[in-house]
Amino acid sequence: MEMNRRQFLTYLGTGTAALASLATGIPAFAAEKTLSGKTADHLFGMDEDKHKPSKVKFKPIQATDKDDLVLPQGYKYDIIASYGDKINTKGDTFGFNNDFTCFLPIEESSEHGLLWVNHEYLGELEYYVTGYDALNADPENNTRTAAQIEKYLYALGGSVIEIKKENGKWRLVSDSKYGRRVSGLTRHTLTGPAAGSSAVNGAREVVGTFANCSGGVTLWNTILSCEENFDSVVADTKLKDATHYGWVVEVDPFDPNSVPKKHTALGRFSHENTAMTIAPGGQLVVYMGDDANDQYVYKYVSRGTYNKAAGKANAKLLEEGTLYVANFSKGKWIALDYAKNETLQKAVDADKKPLFTSQADVLVNCREAAKAVGATPMDRPEDLEVHPIDGSVFISLTNNSKHGNFYGQIVRLFEKDNNHAAEEFMFEIFATGGPQSGFAAPDNLAFDSAGNLWVVTDISSSSMNSGIYKSFGNNGMFFIPTSGPDRGIASQFASAPIGAEMTGPWFTPDEKTLFLSVQHPGENLETYAAPTSHWPKGGMSIALPSVVAITGF
Ligand code: FEO
Ligand code: CA
Ligand code: CA
Repeated sequence: MEMNRRQFLTYLGTGTAALASLATGIPAFAAEKTLSGKTADHLFGMDEDKHKPSKVKFKPIQATDKDDLVLPQGYKYDIIASYGDKINTKGDTFGFNNDFTCFLPIEESSEHGLLWVNHEYLGELEYYVTGYDALNADPENNTRTAAQIEKYLYALGGSVIEIKKENGKWRLVSDSKYGRRVSGLTRHTLTGPAAGSSAVNGAREVVGTFANCSGGVTLWNTILSCEENFDSVVADTKLKDATHYGWVVEVDPFDPNSVPKKHTALGRFSHENTAMTIAPGGQLVVYMGDDANDQYVYKYVSRGTYNKAAGKANAKLLEEGTLYVANFSKGKWIALDYAKNETLQKAVDADKKPLFTSQADVLVNCREAAKAVGATPMDRPEDLEVHPIDGSVFISLTNNSKHGNFYGQIVRLFEKDNNHAAEEFMFEIFATGGPQSGFAAPDNLAFDSAGNLWVVTDISSSSMNSGIYKSFGNNGMFFIPTSGPDRGIASQFASAPIGAEMTGPWFTPDEKTLFLSVQHPGENLETYAAPTSHWPKGGMSIALPSVVAITGF
């Protein structure tokens, strides 16, 4: 059924004033706002009065190819941790290619706390970690030694570091009792429907986490770390069972002895991040993207409801619930529920063998399940974040050259009746990448409390500063208001060193510090003898992935 305008507004739970205004032709919204506004809030019944129009508070920088982390006048960065830094008295060291960051205050301070940091991959920079010449190696002939593989796996996963701001400068506490590595060598438990099932070859415990891209925080102060491109790590490190990877991992940074959990109910794919919120009915909802060409947008809705007083026991909510995948052409969330979905029960492979025989099979093979039920293939869904004021869900679609989408866009999804557990939604294109907007390939998103969007970009290091990407310079960070006269307009706040991507933006609660990862500086080099980036140490040093704290807000 095609919806007409009236049905559309009713669907969205828009107030009767808007309906009356359609009947009379008199707009219910303020006179200066037009139906062809830059965003569709007026169509979706969003109360703009709740938003304070935001203005850009910094002098935007220009795109540049400078080998530095460039910031607007009045802002500075402190290096908090670089690859190899000591993080505790045991001598554990900070991992490689830092990505997601999440600040967890100690005693509610915005100047002292724990920082969780993901460590994603090594790529051609592996040479600096294990000594293996990944630039010139024959991909068909993996000659990594056992010692090199151990170093490889140790460098990935995540770090818990304790950090402090003293005398105006952020620093790492290198002898912290909290300092901890969770790595490709750490023991994990599986939870949820796939734990112990034949789909994971009976495993209830698995070794290691890696390919940790972005993530999220839970409502009970633990972190969720997302395993993204695990396949290449499995191959490089000669691991046997790929079904142990591709999950969302929960870690409690405040308990150094806790065993991290991989929550199978949230599905297995190339997880980018998680955005957790609560539905009006109290269920926990987790939005997730699968970052690959033609992959899907998911959400998980818990069976039970959130109870603040239960604290960490709420983690059980991540073990039982419904995993949905999005069909954008119908505006519907489709439940990937084997027991109820005949399409999943009847799906067969090329040899006419059933694709799935259980819910565990569906969760382990999410991509096949999503495809079987007709989910919409997307253009690399990376971060999803929930708007802190109006509850709409922002989705970064990085790009998809197969679709001629080279610059990406940010989609904004509106759940029916603003209910995060709803099974129907609508959406708009909030902002589009391209020379006209100044940004390309949006990746991680963060909101400040005023509802402004902060976006980092991920132009691949092989395309950066050349061809159709030349005008964008190095990767950047952009500020995009979601209300007021500048809404939807991107202003550049930061530019990354050569070859790098900035990831994991995270604000302290007082919003005076922004943490950011500078990942893979110096990537896309031709020979190790001539590094392309020397950030952050300068001179002829090799580049070091590092986490920074930006102040000046
Ligand atoms: Fe690891 Fe999707 O970026
Ligand atoms: Ca990413
Ligand atoms: Ca990325």
